[in-house]
Amino acid sequence: MTNINAAPIGVFDSGAGGISVLKRLWALMPNEQYLYYGDSANAPYGTKPVETIRDLTTKAVEHLLDEGCKAIVLACNTATAAAAADLRAAYPDIPIIGLEPALKPAALSGNHPTVVVMATPLTLREEKFTALTKRFEDECDLIKLPAPELVTLVEQNKMGTAELRDYLETLFAPLDKDRIDCLVLGCTHFPFAKREIRAVLGRRPVFFDGAVGEAKYTKVVLEERGLRAPDDAVGAIRFESSDPQKIGLLEQLFAFDL
Ligand code: DGL
Repeated sequence: MTNINAAPIGVFDSGAGGISVLKRLWALMPNEQYLYYGDSANAPYGTKPVETIRDLTTKAVEHLLDEGCKAIVLACNTATAAAAADLRAAYPDIPIIGLEPALKPAALSGNHPTVVVMATPLTLREEKFTALTKRFEDECDLIKLPAPELVTLVEQNKMGTAELRDYLETLFAPLDKDRIDCLVLGCTHFPFAKREIRAVLGRRPVFFDGAVGEAKYTKVVLEERGLRAPDDAVGAIRFESSDPQKIGLLEQLFAFDL
């Protein structure tokens, strides 16, 4: 094992949402070092033009590479849709693991289920999701539900408030709640609002998100490339944000029971 094995895994999101992925990575690989970078000063990403998101993501990933990261986990569906392909082309030797809404397991979970995919406007309109939709549209009734304000509400730590519940009531009001079989949380901020979403939708829908899958896939990629930290290494997490006032929120969400 060389020094590179002891290097941190860089975990990136537009803000605090990627903590929902970091929690799964930590549970699976507690012997690794992690450098989490949230670009909260520029969140939300999902309502910005794709070029802007690509530039912001590239800048953040370059920062993580300057810090010596051995791999990059894009813990953000929006950044993945906008920038993953370009980043992989620019850094072919660095594993760059991306994330997409968990439509596949939801669509295949039953007999032609009704699947609601909640995500940012950018994720829902980009080519990556359109291609995914084409593969599974015959398997389910798909409803796309952009929820950009939910990102801001999580960034503002509004979990448990009437403001968050009111927003969700309005968001889901046009849908027939009794028909929703599956709800895909296609943005890493959304699992932090799961309790409130459940309160609005009731017990029926089964929730899907991509965090566990991304963590497992990261482990596979690191193993394939011989990049895992030694089994007896002691892991650690460093939190960074483009808005230093958000460090407390990152730590708080890491302790959140998902
Ligand atoms: N957390 C990000 C995602 O998974 C998006 C948040 C944003 O719009 O900034 O898509």
